Amino acid sequence: MRSPFLTAVNITHTFQDLPVLENVSLEIQSGGFVALVGPSGVGKSTLLRILAGLLRPSSGDIHMADGSHQEPIGLVFQRDNLMPWRTVAENVRLPLELMGVNGREANGRVQAMINLVGLAGFEQRYPAQLSGGMAQRVALARALVHEPLFLLLDEPFGALDALTRERMGLELLRIWEAMPVTVLLVTHSISEAVFLADEVLVMGGSRPNTERPATITHRIPTGLPRPRDLAMERTAAFQDCVTAVRAAIESGV
Ligand SMILES: Nc1ncnc2c1ncn2[C@@H]1O[C@H](COP(=O)(O)OP(=O)(O)OP(=O)(O)O)[C@@H](O)[C@H]1O
Ligand SMILES: [Mg+2]
Repeated sequence: MRSPFLTAVNITHTFQDLPVLENVSLEIQSGGFVALVGPSGVGKSTLLRILAGLLRPSSGDIHMADGSHQEPIGLVFQRDNLMPWRTVAENVRLPLELMGVNGREANGRVQAMINLVGLAGFEQRYPAQLSGGMAQRVALARALVHEPLFLLLDEPFGALDALTRERMGLELLRIWEAMPVTVLLVTHSISEAVFLADEVLVMGGSRPNTERPATITHRIPTGLPRPRDLAMERTAAFQDCVTAVRAAIESGV
């Protein structure tokens, strides 16, 4: 049996006088992959920041599995946020520097992550010399180099073209399968959410006919087998799941 990695209970958040989240409760299993979808402005990034510990909710509780709250997390945002004056390797090394890990151990870990995201040979390039997809791979390597137990991704592939985005999704699955990491992914793409996740959480208004405050209105287990490949997208089970998530989003607005 898997145990819950993170449990959030009745999270409510108000920005000044804007009520954004109301009674959001969720559970993420250890080693699980959960996607969060919902209309623009509904509060997905706000919830992600709260779960990452970057924003304190107005009320509610978050419990992590024993010891996990002391572990570092990994974060990837919609824009890669790389430091333009640092090379690929220097960008990836940053979290290790902040943790005081240096020398051969740091070099080894940096190289292993660069290899894992498929950027071997590009270590000494600068961000301006990379494509958008390559820059997001660097951001992913940087988010994972310190071996976090929790990886939170906010629209990480939003700025990429459809083909690169598909490939990055597959890469992310490969990396997730290779590491003991629990993933929460915010995405606008319903098919991406279904393709990658064990469960899709849908956010919408907590009361009829209002978008705010929002809560999790539906939890849809994808139930699709792993390992996954792109051929799965043509199966009836996949299409049914996409249809269910779409209907859940539309019913919530
Ligand atoms: N720092 C802030 N101060 C005040 N209001 C904020 C702040 N951050 C977000 N909001 C408001 O909270 C609401 C939810 O924003 P949030 O960024 O969480 O939405 P989202 O679901 O991530 O949207 P998108 O899909 O467009 O990224 C919005 O109405 C936004 O204006
Ligand atoms: Mg957002």
